[in-house]
Amino acid sequence: MTDTKKSVHGAWSSRFAFILAATGSAVGLGNIWKFPYIAGENGGGAFVIVYLLCVLLIGIPIMIAETMLGRRSQQNPVETMELLTEEAGADKNWHFLGWMGVIAGMLILSYYSVIAGWAMAYIVKAFTGSFFDADATAIKELFNDFVASPVQLIIWHSLFMLATMLIIVRGVHNGLEKAVQFLMPGLFVLMILLVGYAMTTGSYIQGLHFLFKPDFSKLTGDTVLTAMGHAFFTLSLGMGAIMVYGSYLPKGISIANTVLWIAGADTAVALLAGIAIFPIVFANDLHPGSGPGLIFQTLPIAFGAMTGGWLMGILFFVMLMIAALTSSISLIEPVVAWLVENKDFSREKASIWAGLATWLLGLGTVFSFNIWSDVKFFDRNIFELLDYLTANLMLPIGGFCIAVFAGWIMKRQHSEQELNMATASNYQVWKILISYVAPLAVFLVFLHVIGVL
Ligand code: PHE
Repeated sequence: MTDTKKSVHGAWSSRFAFILAATGSAVGLGNIWKFPYIAGENGGGAFVIVYLLCVLLIGIPIMIAETMLGRRSQQNPVETMELLTEEAGADKNWHFLGWMGVIAGMLILSYYSVIAGWAMAYIVKAFTGSFFDADATAIKELFNDFVASPVQLIIWHSLFMLATMLIIVRGVHNGLEKAVQFLMPGLFVLMILLVGYAMTTGSYIQGLHFLFKPDFSKLTGDTVLTAMGHAFFTLSLGMGAIMVYGSYLPKGISIANTVLWIAGADTAVALLAGIAIFPIVFANDLHPGSGPGLIFQTLPIAFGAMTGGWLMGILFFVMLMIAALTSSISLIEPVVAWLVENKDFSREKASIWAGLATWLLGLGTVFSFNIWSDVKFFDRNIFELLDYLTANLMLPIGGFCIAVFAGWIMKRQHSEQELNMATASNYQVWKILISYVAPLAVFLVFLHVIGVL
């Protein structure tokens, strides 16, 4: 099938390039900004365990499936679903999966870009010495004053969107591949240095306890849903980002091994971020449930106090920005690929339109931290609503459908051929996880949330 329909896509230059790009998509604000603050809001240990279980039993099998679907069709997600439903002789309703991904990507990027803008602003703050010798109260005020200003947030949000679109315009080879190569090693080193600082705070053990000692009485339906949603979010699953990257992956490369590496690196970065942040939280009498500002209210304390902290602060926020960029390009790539491949847009025109629409939507998030902080729907401000809608609902639903499609709709011989696993029993394990375990788990969590279970 893929022989007859030639894609206009580029292809990754190697398996390594795919690993870099997919890891770049996975590792981002989700690991460093979001994971610590939602773990803090949801009581720590028990939440972390549910999240890890979800990565293992739901995330990894679905990541394998999503990569496989993309590579089989070598098209954008909308086309992929069209081609593969046809190949499997399945119902046309499956097409919606591609569409939902395109929409989810833009919705996520609209708020992702605002937060990434914060990271950019903090590069400047680190550079001008704002954190120097500042205590927890001063750092908190700095953050509160910053997010209270719509103008500042708009400027940084705009700059970040512009940077994303500039990379997107240049396409796969020039843009995406290069950015990631320096990032991952650098990020690892910095996280480990921060963990080193956390060890000196006197609250290291307390931080570790919070993060890893489970108190299952803290688990509610919504907590479990948030942990599961985050497994999707952090691995970039359920909306076509990994499908697009899979579509650029050359045939003949082992998908399963590759995915295990990516998921491992992603989880490691998140845990390191947690291990670095919570000791600082407790040492400074801060509250673990401080919300989206958590890393901006904790890490600068470390940068202000440690020797070499000035440079580390700058490096850290630069890397956070790059990590966010390599994720943001994967959030918008599905829309752009679709506009280029199906609507005959030039790459420039597609990028401009997709970028403008997302930028506009992002203003809702900007204002939810200041002038519209009281505007609530279902008890959530605009940012919280977008986050809940995408991470907790759209991505798990998308992932559920991908699992059902790969496990039940796609012909066994096709998935077997595409995955080309080392042994028949490896394939069998994946097949059971994708057909039964993953979809059932997602389904049960939803039942639990709506109170049926
Ligand atoms: N995985 C990215 C992060 O953790 C966010 C993302 C979600 C990217 C969905 C693409 C698709 O920051």
